Amino acid sequence: MNRLGSKSGHLQSVIEIGETDRVFILTGAGISAESGLATFRGAGGLWRNHRIEEVASPQAWRRDPVTVWEFYSQRRRAALAAQPNPGHLALARLEDILGDRLFLCTQNVDDLHERAGSRGAAHMHGELFKSRCDTCDRTPFEDRNTYEPPDGIPHCGCGGWIRPHICWFGEVPFEMDRIARALDECTLFLAVGTSGVVEPAASFAARTRANARTVYIGPEEPTNSYAFAEAYLGKAGELLPGLFHCAGASRRTTG
Ligand code: APR
Repeated sequence: MNRLGSKSGHLQSVIEIGETDRVFILTGAGISAESGLATFRGAGGLWRNHRIEEVASPQAWRRDPVTVWEFYSQRRRAALAAQPNPGHLALARLEDILGDRLFLCTQNVDDLHERAGSRGAAHMHGELFKSRCDTCDRTPFEDRNTYEPPDGIPHCGCGGWIRPHICWFGEVPFEMDRIARALDECTLFLAVGTSGVVEPAASFAARTRANARTVYIGPEEPTNSYAFAEAYLGKAGELLPGLFHCAGASRRTTG
């Protein structure tokens, strides 16, 4: 893997995007780190000494739904207080330039991409501000409430429990058809702030290597670094603004 850029955030080069390029961007918890939201792995990655896998699974929900709702209630509060950072804003500006030649896929459940101006991001792991019934097929609905003791678990009219609209470990991620098409079509694949350990997203880069230039952006090499041709090592909020030059566009994404 060719390492470019530097930890100080000064770039040695920019990424040229040609007029026929199609760009797939995969983001992970790292892009929201500079907005103050904790990542899952590494420093600060535990919640009350639980690994994420212990509070984000159907088994955890069946065993202790109160603790699961406490975890997501706390995440709802943190995400509501957070603001998009320059990394989110740079990707929204890139989408303004490229239109439907950019496909944004996020593993994050926060809404910071949307609040930065991105439209149509595929939230493969669900959305923090939506809930659904764990029993009936009622459509997932907007829900910004928090559910913590002494209040109980919210109930659906059918008698089931209301759960977060999140893809838990062992469940099937959302929007995989749309994501698969975009992976097949892309000529530039960019992963930002994801450690490359959780499937299926961890395999996206390797899957696109035959058709796309693969680039990683984050402060440290991901676990699946073998799948990337290049890495820009540094913080997303420092590197993404000014990183791209689009053919036909008169300015970089920062303007
Ligand atoms: N800019 C870019 N990347 C950063 C930054 C930053 N400022 N700060 C940290 N990172 C990087 C870390 O180096 C790490 O590689 O972000 C990555 C975060 O990794 P994880 O915490 O494992 O997050 P992610 O890969 O998104 O996790 C995948 O795991 O638990 C599940 O469903 C959850 O969607 C999540 C999935």
